[in-house]
Amino acid sequence: MFLEELGKIEEEAGRELREADSQDKLSSWHTRYLGRKGRLTSILKSIGALSLENRKEVGSKANQVKERLSLSFSQRKDELSCGPSLREDVDITLPGRPFTYGSLHPTTKVLREICTIFSGLGFGVVEGPEIEEDYYNFEALNMPEDHPARDMWATLWMENGLLLRTHTSPMQIRIMERASPPIRVIIPGRCYRYEATDATHESMFYQVEGLAVDKGITLAHLKGTLTEFSHLLFGEERKIRFRCDYFPFVEPGMEMSIECLSCQGKGCRTCRGSGWLEILGAGMVHPRVLERVNIDPEVYSGFAFGMGVERIPMLKYRIDDIRHFYADDLRFLAQFR
Ligand code: DAH
Repeated sequence: MFLEELGKIEEEAGRELREADSQDKLSSWHTRYLGRKGRLTSILKSIGALSLENRKEVGSKANQVKERLSLSFSQRKDELSCGPSLREDVDITLPGRPFTYGSLHPTTKVLREICTIFSGLGFGVVEGPEIEEDYYNFEALNMPEDHPARDMWATLWMENGLLLRTHTSPMQIRIMERASPPIRVIIPGRCYRYEATDATHESMFYQVEGLAVDKGITLAHLKGTLTEFSHLLFGEERKIRFRCDYFPFVEPGMEMSIECLSCQGKGCRTCRGSGWLEILGAGMVHPRVLERVNIDPEVYSGFAFGMGVERIPMLKYRIDDIRHFYADDLRFLAQFR
């Protein structure tokens, strides 16, 4: 009989406790169940009249119920007293703290833009190693040891004879070794040069390389592709020009410039008075480069290009010093949200 009664008390007490939504109701609950004249206390008091065996069973059950109810009671009390209006140590009228949130690095933004444009033109995106062999960085690109053109790239050599790639062009070779034409890829990535840094030179920077190899690829395809790229990145009204240039791994070689973004071609400090800004190097893949990777230059031809990435946001956002990019200064980076 006592056991049944205990079960009932626990159930009712639990329900009423959940319904108690003020300190007053809570303390009246406490009086009714756990107080000196409360229901549970009465049972505990009358246990003495029971037989020894019953006393043990009812007593331990009653104590368990009492413990559980006490615990529920103090939890409920905490819940009620933590309501915002009841806490005196928190001024809920204070304005909140703004969330700080990150943003994409300007280089990342431009890289993504470039990749999106070339993906749309049918190019795949591939990455390659930053630590390179002499063979890929120079030799296979038509620059044997002692070739004077090697001096165009101030190189960081490692003790084991490897080097930090000075451009993304070595990936042209790695790709042609693995894949057979038709090939259409771009290769974004970091490059390194042994250079005293100044406003326009960093020892680490990004390039995007491009390579297309197929039957019947001509200079017209190269110019068409780069013109479309410029239209999409800089707008159709931005004039571009191609001029002859020399790179050992292309023949003919050229550079592409765009009309200066600062002065619209009139001539200013940014373009050193010329009205033009050089954006990239390019050309038709040299037959000897194709031969080396066992692609027959009588059957196939290709074009390649390589551009510096930081140059583009520098021109777009009038950033006057490349060293801002990797100095990790939030005052600089937060401007590109
Ligand atoms: N790799 C050259 C550089 O770092 C840029 C370049 C020029 C890449 C002509 C090419 C190319 O693919 O055809 O200066």
